[in-house]
Amino acid sequence: MEKREQLYEGKAKKVYATDDPAFVIVSYKDDATAFDGAKKGTIAGKGAINNRMTNMLMRKLEARGIPTHYVEELSERETLVKKVNIVPLEVIVRNVSAGHFASRYGVAEGIVFDSPVVEFSYKNDELHDPLLNDDHAIALGLATRGEIDQIRSCALRINELLKDILAEVGVTLVDFKLEFGKTAAGELVVADEISPDTCRFWDSRTGEKLDKDRFRRDLGNVEEAYEEMSRRLLGS
Ligand code: TMP
Ligand code: ASP
Repeated sequence: MEKREQLYEGKAKKVYATDDPAFVIVSYKDDATAFDGAKKGTIAGKGAINNRMTNMLMRKLEARGIPTHYVEELSERETLVKKVNIVPLEVIVRNVSAGHFASRYGVAEGIVFDSPVVEFSYKNDELHDPLLNDDHAIALGLATRGEIDQIRSCALRINELLKDILAEVGVTLVDFKLEFGKTAAGELVVADEISPDTCRFWDSRTGEKLDKDRFRRDLGNVEEAYEEMSRRLLGS
């Protein structure tokens, strides 16, 4: 498939058209932002790691019957995916308190939940991605009741699969964010990425943070954390 014009540039990825309207190419950047773009930086090598890690995990999801936008890894940083309309919801699954859960509700980080928490935010930078519930999302026309139900059950299945994959390499899946998209054929698929940018990974033994919180919170060893996750999950 041939790469054509750039369609979109996001904070961490660019999207290019191809000669087939059903497919686009995503290209992962080393750029990193936090707090709605207020904090900006670069994480050397991040684009290549996030590309390969996302693709590996999406292939595993596909193998377990979970549809994703993934088609084919084209290069270190570029992947062919199905063109979708993104459902404007950030779908967050939490197993352990951290981040906004801890700050919003005034609790410590590290509380292990008896069952996972699924949470939706309205994907809207100007409004700072406000938290919303199913009824809000439906009232705003962001998704139908059926789609919300499908998204929730899919997110919970993905949580179980990812928790197992990560446990095998000594990592606790604290929380993560998913995005879903609809193909022209109307299929709801997992889109965007699954990487240290969009997940919280804690070393199961030491609790060391191996994700983008090292950048968000200026903890140092940012590149090293991405490289460590790459070694554990991708073997390099
Ligand atoms: P939060 O605790 O800040 O709400 O983050 C929950 C999860 O979502 C965490 O794994 C990081 C991820 N996340 C994103 O992928 N994009 C974002 O813009 C934010 C705020 C969080
Ligand atoms: N990348 C996101 C932003 O700049 C935030 C984050 O991942 O913390 O809005």
